[in-house]
Formats: sequence, C-alpha cells, structure tokens
Amino acid sequence: MSPDIDSVLNETRRFPPSAEFQARAQLSDPAQYERLYRESIEDPDAFWGRVARELPWQQPFERVLDWSAKPFARWFVGGKLNLSMACLDQHVAAGRGGRTAIVWEGEPGDSERYTYAELLAEVCRTANALKARGVKKGDRVALYMPMIPEIVLAMLACARIGAIHSVIFGGFSAQSIKDRVLDGGCTAVITADGSWRRGKVLPLKPVVDEALLGVKSVHTVFVVQRAANEIEWQSGRDVWLSELARKQSAECAPEPMDSEDTLFLLYTSGSTGKPKGIRHTTAGYLVGAYLSTKYVFDLRPDDLYWCTADVGWITGHSYVVYGPLANGATVLLYEGAPNQPHPGRFWELVAKHKVTILYTAPTAIRSFMRWGDEHVTRFDRSSLRLLGTVGEPINPEAWMWYRTVVGESRCPIVDTWWQTETGSIQITPLPGITATKPGSATRPFFGVDAAIVDEQGHEVPPGKGGYLVIKKPWPSMLRGIWGDDARYVETYWSKFGGRWYFTGDGARRDEDGYFWIMGRVDDVLNVSGHRLSTMEVESALVSHADVVEAAVVGRPDELTGEALCAFVTIGPGKVATPALAEALKEHVSKEIGKLARPAEIRFAEALPKTRSGKIMRRLLRDIAAGREVTQDTTTLEDYSVLARLRIEEE
Ligand code: WTA
Repeated sequence: MSPDIDSVLNETRRFPPSAEFQARAQLSDPAQYERLYRESIEDPDAFWGRVARELPWQQPFERVLDWSAKPFARWFVGGKLNLSMACLDQHVAAGRGGRTAIVWEGEPGDSERYTYAELLAEVCRTANALKARGVKKGDRVALYMPMIPEIVLAMLACARIGAIHSVIFGGFSAQSIKDRVLDGGCTAVITADGSWRRGKVLPLKPVVDEALLGVKSVHTVFVVQRAANEIEWQSGRDVWLSELARKQSAECAPEPMDSEDTLFLLYTSGSTGKPKGIRHTTAGYLVGAYLSTKYVFDLRPDDLYWCTADVGWITGHSYVVYGPLANGATVLLYEGAPNQPHPGRFWELVAKHKVTILYTAPTAIRSFMRWGDEHVTRFDRSSLRLLGTVGEPINPEAWMWYRTVVGESRCPIVDTWWQTETGSIQITPLPGITATKPGSATRPFFGVDAAIVDEQGHEVPPGKGGYLVIKKPWPSMLRGIWGDDARYVETYWSKFGGRWYFTGDGARRDEDGYFWIMGRVDDVLNVSGHRLSTMEVESALVSHADVVEAAVVGRPDELTGEALCAFVTIGPGKVATPALAEALKEHVSKEIGKLARPAEIRFAEALPKTRSGKIMRRLLRDIAAGREVTQDTTTLEDYSVLARLRIEEE
C-alpha cells in the first residue's frame, strides 16, 4: 500500500459518551484528561513514575527512563518487581483473596472458578513443579496450550520464578513450534494432551512430539490433561504437570526481578525472513498493561471482563492475563469456538456470566453479523456496558452493527490500535472522555506521541495518508528481538534515521486529530487479525517439490479483512490442477499452520518482475483484488506475463 493514497473514508457520525456512562467512569472530566495527557507527554518521568509507584515493588527504582542507548530503552532503572506479585499477592495481601480472578468455560460446557487466593496457591504449586524439574530464572519455556486456566497458571508460574515464557498459539504447526523453540533456545515445553475445538479434540501433545524431533535443548515436556486423547509418552522427558504440582508446596517466594529482566518472548511475523521473537521486559511492560487496562476498559471491581483473544497472541498476554489481573479484575476465559454448539455461544456466555466488558476482533464481529442478529438478540445483553475491538481496522458498518445490535446503542466502543511490539494499547478512545467515530481508533493514549509522516519524515496535513510513527519511548515498548539487535534497529528504527519508532502501518489523521489506521505498508498481511508475512508463506510454498516460484499478496476479504492469494509458477512437466492447488494449500497449513492457508492459488507461467528482478507486488495485489491494473508497467521485464495473468482471471 502506498502511504500517499488519500483515504476514501469520510465518516462523520460521532458518538460522545453518555451522561450515564460518564457518571460512573474513572475518567470523565475533559480538563483533567487534558492535564494528564499533557503531563504524560511533557513530563513523562513524573507521569510514569507516579503510575509505577502504584505497583508493588520489591525494591524501588532510582530512575524512570534511561534512553541514552537509544533505541534500547531502560525503564524504572534499578527497581525490582515480580509480575506474579502484582497480579496475585498484592490482592490477597489487601484482603481481596476471596474475589474471583478467573471464570472458565470449556467448550463442552464444563467450568471452573479460581479466586485470587486459589490462583496464587496454584501458581506457586506450578512454579515449584517447574523448579522441581530444574527450570530456573532466565530459562526459556515454550507454552503450546489451549485456553484453559492452566495456561494462565503456567505464564504466572514462569514469571514467579523468573523463567521467560514463549507462548506459541495453538494453531501453529509442528514446524512453526520447532522454529520458535530453537530460536529461543527453550529448555522446557508446557502443553496439554489436547483441546476442545468445534466439538472435536484437537491434539496438541502429538504436535509438540513431532516438533521436538531432533531438538536437543528441551529436557522436560510438562503435560496438562485436558481432552484425555491418546498420546505417546517419552519417559524421562514427559511429566504430568498437575500430578507433579499437586505434590508441591502452595508457597513459592517470588524471584526478585530487575525491571529490565526479560518477562517473555512472543514471536510475530515481519516483512522478511523468519518470525521475530519480540522481547518484553518486566516493569515497563506491566506499567503499560496495568494503566491501559484500567483506563481504556474503565475497570471496576464489580466488572466481569471478557477479552476473547487467545492467550497465544499479545492481546491475550496483556488483556487476558497481565493487565486485568494486575487490576484485580474478574476475567472470563473460554476454551472453544464462538459457534459451538450454536452461533449464539458467545452471547449465551455473556448472558450466563453477566459479562460487562467485551473485547473482541473485527473479524469475529463480521462473522456474527453474517450469522444473523437473532443469534445475538435472543440472549440478554443488558449486563454489557463497554465494548472493545482490536487487531485490524474495523469497517464503519461492522462498528455500527457492534454498537446497535450487540451494545443496544448503550455501550461505548473502544477501537484500540496497538501491536505485539508496543506491548499495550497506543491509540484508543477513553470511554468516558472521547466522542468516537465509527472506524477510527481516535487519539493516542497517555504518553504516546504518535505522528503521521511522509517518506522524508515530514508530518502530513490532516486528511492525508502517511506512515504512522511513535516519537517517544514508552514503558511497554519492545526491548528488542531475541538474539538479533541489528534486526531490531533495522526494522523499527532505520526508516527515519533512528529518530522514531516506525510501526509499519499507514494512517491518516482527520481535522479533529483523530487517527484512522489504514493497514500495513510493508509485506505483512493481516488475516483475521493474525499477522502473517508474505515471505514466510512464499517460502513454505517454494518448499513444495512442484513449485518454482511464489508470490503471496493480500486481497480484501469481507470476513477476514484480508485473504491470502498466492501466485505460483510450477516446474517443467508439472500440471496446474485444482488438486495441486489443494495440495499446496495443505502444504502451507502443514508448514506454518492453518491460519496461513491461502484462500486462493493462481498458477502463472511467470511472475511479473521489474528489470532489476523484483516481483511487482502492487500489481499482483491489483490483480488479486480484481482491480484494473493502473500501475506504471514500464519497468516490467516481460509484458506478456501481465497479459497472461489477466487472462487467467477471465
Ligand atoms: C493491526 C495486535 C487497525 C495493525 C494487538 C498493527 C489494527 C497490527 C488495530 C498489529 C486497530 C491492530 N485498527 N489496525 N484497532 N489493532 N491493528 O502484533 O496493522 O498481532 O500493526 O497486535 O494489527 O498486530 P499484532
């Protein structure tokens, strides 16, 4: 996408917060908000220092920010703090141990509840079980787990002993797990036998077994029993986690963690090469997750908060686990699919548990729209008071549907823009302050100095598209890419000469200063809110014996935002058949995971290239989208290629 394309969106509807919402909101006074925002930008040390002091420190910090080694920030220098204490011990110590922390529903309808006191005890037992198998501070532990309470236990147990967790989304393939385990040098894996998904058991442990073939670094695979599917057992390596945890003490002293000790790695797709292990550290990450959860979701003690994201993504890390628990919230966790056993399952859960805050993704919202209003409206949604969305731009039509049908025109919507790299929400309405506009993420959050600039780094005028950059460091920013400082600098800081953080997104700002995110400007695709790199999918395709060359582009898709369209040239003597197209789709699923499965394979005799040999992706994007090809093609190496690609379409 070219950042200088003028956006065609011209949305003029505005929805100010209702007086009723404002009356109870944590932030509702515009003057107070302006003062706080100004302070957060002009005096970040004062602002963030004050927020950070609300957290339970094991040792106070000496300095708020050290930016001298730019772009490698150090926040809350000299402090010590353990995430699990902030999420658990502090609430128990304050007499809130009896409050419900997690309400869990399995897909088949089984359920569990944990109070804060129970969660603390279980986390300690799990932490002691990890220790009993030799896991220690600084070790990397991969998690490949379903949405069950044990994934929260596992993350917090790692945090408690200072082990670095690397959660791998349960939809990834064995090969993807292997790449991540090897890149992170993981020494242990935590998984489950299987998970319930769409009425069936999805095996997990067998995928881990396959992933670990030939991997020497992993000494232990901890297995949680969930689906009772048959699994193989490697004695000496595999242990039942709950059995081991049951034998442990319910107390485990939290490891004193330096503010800048690594808390977790989370792999995400970049525009080139293999996935990057985004590295987040302890105190800054917590401060960002804590404050944004508190204000963006306007959390109150009586809320029942439900973020539907899988814990395998950053949204699950920050807004299922760390942010809400640090705020002492009650969190709903659901294992399964939104349409199992019927398309109203989510709304049934909302009614049953009296969910007050719901945070989900545009792709899910569009599915619900398609399934029909009646599946939503037949359940009572009067408990809902706030709705959120994240992961991709939301089209105004879906936004309006979310507001009127789901929220009965009562609930404010927070459209939150952020990234794995930012750790916490960066551009968002504040529900008691901001008048929202359908499709806009509105204004930067506290401390976020966002701007839209052109190729030369000049700010563009209102209404004009450009690159979205962040000009100041913020506490929950990534501290690097695991094992690859150079790639960190290159990917995020080189575009504007080291001055600003480059998000990879295009955006525009309107006359009111509201941000409208236009999507990625690099070769990263966003399919159902999942980031995928065109390169990764291309190399998976090329690894198939019949494929010579492949180019993958996104085309707009009503449901998933973008869909993968692959242009493929095959070897001599190979025949382009629907069966081969199917086989290639399967191959990509096997190599990366189902989420990367192309929606469409188009065979071509050759791919259109510039004279210097670069594949002309913009042109392929136009073809994939069925748009008239208007791009200048004078640098095309072979005009006939273009002609043939177009003929294929007809
Ligand atoms: C996109 C997910 C528009 C964006 C938290 C970003 C959004 C990428 C929004 C990060 C939003 C996320 N509006 N686009 N509200 N939220 N995006 O790392 O392109 O999985 O760069 O983090 O998703 O995806 P990631």
